[in-house]
Amino acid sequence: MTTTPAASRSRLDPEPVPRRDWLGLSSLWAAAGALLFGVTGMLKLPKAAVLASPSKKFKVTLPESLAAGEAFVPPGRAVAIYKDAQGVYAVSSICTHLGCVVKPNAEGFECPCHGSRFAANGEVTKGPAPRPLPWLKVTVAGGAITVDEATTVPQGTKVA
Ligand code: FES
Repeated sequence: MTTTPAASRSRLDPEPVPRRDWLGLSSLWAAAGALLFGVTGMLKLPKAAVLASPSKKFKVTLPESLAAGEAFVPPGRAVAIYKDAQGVYAVSSICTHLGCVVKPNAEGFECPCHGSRFAANGEVTKGPAPRPLPWLKVTVAGGAITVDEATTVPQGTKVA
């Protein structure tokens, strides 16, 4: 006479889980863990930061000490403003190659990213920039100077 496994177990021993059930439960727990892990990861993703962009039109006051041919770059703006005997004009400081902000220097502008150089009037003197820096619309009303970064004007347009 053979004894059945159930007969040899104590009543206090837990009921053995059949292998198929064990694999099914393991798969279920693994899927639940993966889902929980994924949801937790998605909750930790950074939220989109939507910042109000500053207006493209801004008023500026040029320093009294600004010499003819000297660039004035308003803080937080990618624009170089000049004043000479013919009037005031503004040149965009955004490189026409890939959009880096160029730095004014004694000869004009230099791009720190790939080395393009521009004359003070925005013309390209060394590539890879494909086009000159655009001139921007300037209006002078009652002594107040307004620059519109969104509107370009032909090169050489100066406002008295
Ligand atoms: S972004 Fe200015 S040279 Fe490339």
